[in-house]
Amino acid sequence: MNTITAPALALTLAFLAPAALAAAPFDKGDANKGKATHEKQCAGCHIGRFGGDGGKIYTRADRRVKNASALAQQITTCNAMLGNNLFPEDELHLAAYLNGQYYKFK
Ligand code: HEC
Repeated sequence: MNTITAPALALTLAFLAPAALAAAPFDKGDANKGKATHEKQCAGCHIGRFGGDGGKIYTRADRRVKNASALAQQITTCNAMLGNNLFPEDELHLAAYLNGQYYKFK
């Protein structure tokens, strides 16, 4: 039993450790693409509610998003409200942009 599980565990850890150390949760997204999409499709509505450049929605003290998966979820929710059917990769780019600019989740 141990002869099988021990190498399997070692292998799992070898793969998991670098992933855990890797920088950002959305590092496969392109923040520049996300920024462009954000300006076109997202900022307007947030500005209408929060003024300024709309960025306050992400930095207010009682902001809703508390971790990376909540960020991905909220982007999907806002995208659905928008009815614009962004592709999953667009959502990933948006997440990369918002996380880099505002949330800084590791
Ligand atoms: C139709 C208006 C509208 C559009 C368009 C919109 N949002 Fe939002 N968004 C909101 C509102 C309203 C909230 C705040 C919800 C709350 O506080 O309960 C929000 C909140 C958020 C939050 C969470 C902020 C926090 O508190 O941490 C994120 C992230 C977000 N939106 C991303 C996006 C992205 C990305 C897009 C473009 C794809 C987008 N939104 C488009 C209305 C919109």
